[in-house]
Amino acid sequence: MKTAIIGTGYVGLTTGVALAYLGHEVTCLDVDATKVENLKKGKSPIYEPHLDELLSLASRNLKFTLDADAALRDAEVVFIAVGTPSLPDGNPNLTYLKSAAQSIGEKIASPYVVIVNKSTVPIGSGNWVESIVRDSYRANNPHKNSSFIVASNPEFLREGSALSDMLYADRVVVGADDQKALDVLRKLYQPLLEQTFESPAFLPRPEGFRAVHFLTSDLQSAELIKYAANAFLALKISFINEISELSEKVGADIQHVSRGIGLDSRIGNRFLQAGIGWGGSCFGKDTAALISTGKEYGLSMPITQAARDVNMRQRARMVEILMSELKILKGRKIGILGLSFKPFTDDLRDAPALDIGNRLIERGAKVVGFDPISMERAKKEWADTPIEFAPDAESVFSEADAVLLVTEWPEFKNLSFDRCAKHMKNRLVLDGRGHLEASKLQSAGIQLITLGRSSK
Ligand code: UGA
Repeated sequence: MKTAIIGTGYVGLTTGVALAYLGHEVTCLDVDATKVENLKKGKSPIYEPHLDELLSLASRNLKFTLDADAALRDAEVVFIAVGTPSLPDGNPNLTYLKSAAQSIGEKIASPYVVIVNKSTVPIGSGNWVESIVRDSYRANNPHKNSSFIVASNPEFLREGSALSDMLYADRVVVGADDQKALDVLRKLYQPLLEQTFESPAFLPRPEGFRAVHFLTSDLQSAELIKYAANAFLALKISFINEISELSEKVGADIQHVSRGIGLDSRIGNRFLQAGIGWGGSCFGKDTAALISTGKEYGLSMPITQAARDVNMRQRARMVEILMSELKILKGRKIGILGLSFKPFTDDLRDAPALDIGNRLIERGAKVVGFDPISMERAKKEWADTPIEFAPDAESVFSEADAVLLVTEWPEFKNLSFDRCAKHMKNRLVLDGRGHLEASKLQSAGIQLITLGRSSK
């Protein structure tokens, strides 16, 4: 199918590359000339495992352009995957969505076009987009008669595993108030739903994985599914973090508790990893938007609010624990291992490392961080924060009064803690992700404090 994707961020690019790999003719449109130039050369603007390789395998079916007319003229399906960053009041900024809708109205010319909202948009945005497309279409194409429909197809990709989340999804959710649009999208996703495509060697199909659920609904339900899914995942994390604090107090080990409750299939073991809590561009933004939507309807959302509060408390706790151990933070050198909001991505949006770093700096500490992938980005994006950067993970320990593990990159597990210990001023490590092996640190003479484990 002739498919256009507006926006080559995480969602747009992953969707575009995957659909092209599945055999569709995909054109990705963006307004950023450098991004488009790089993509034409096969270079992805983001760090995402296997994206470059899939880009090259799919390149026969994939074009990148700045030209809206070229992208939209023949498109039968148009995905909108532009950013919707949070405004200060918690509502998403819909400027890019609006301009995407306007150019769709201006340029589409196929007889029947399905416009698919893939960006996370407030509930009701589908209708809003449809009215913008309609006005723009009428104003620009008075003598043509394409018909179009707006559908919602929320994405559930996790950064760092976006491609396998897309190709081997738990489900594809599509909402539209028109059966024909649902049929078009079912056809578009057919190879994925039936798993008839040949798996790329670097992304093998999980054993026993045979089909993907296709869930159709009305427009509003699909829009709400996205928010409800993210809020539920966020509150699962906050719940285990709340239990984790109690676990420390009563002398329990949160890893056992988490495993013990997760084996109950009604609860499930995923997203029960206790630690500093969530960061990234999604959970914070989407829980804020859900609360703000509730408010519009006079509805408070206490559970979602509590998930946010607990999440912030985890970051503050890291600093509190340090204060109780070191007493004075002024003049101390604190190392931070891991800067991205989670491993296998260079994304720094709402990264706990920055928040914790700032809290320490405010209290007079000197903060030195290291990350295997996101350092260059951090140097640019955090230019106005006085966080210093170490050339490698071991250097973070040099002269440190304490080191915090904030992001669980696998390589941090295998550091030579004996060597690290020798260079520390004070041998204290605070593991915010339950990632390090206690025995290794103990044998190096390092005091290890792990969130969720009593210090015994
Ligand atoms: C999240 C959702 O998982 C995706 O389904 C969704 O599509 C995406 O948001 C989105 O809305 O775009 P993402 O933010 O990429 O994906 O990353 P996650 O793997 O969900 O992790 C989010 C944060 O939660 C990370 O900071 C991670 O360290 C933290 N986390 C995750 C925990 O603290 N504990 C866990 O058990 C799991």
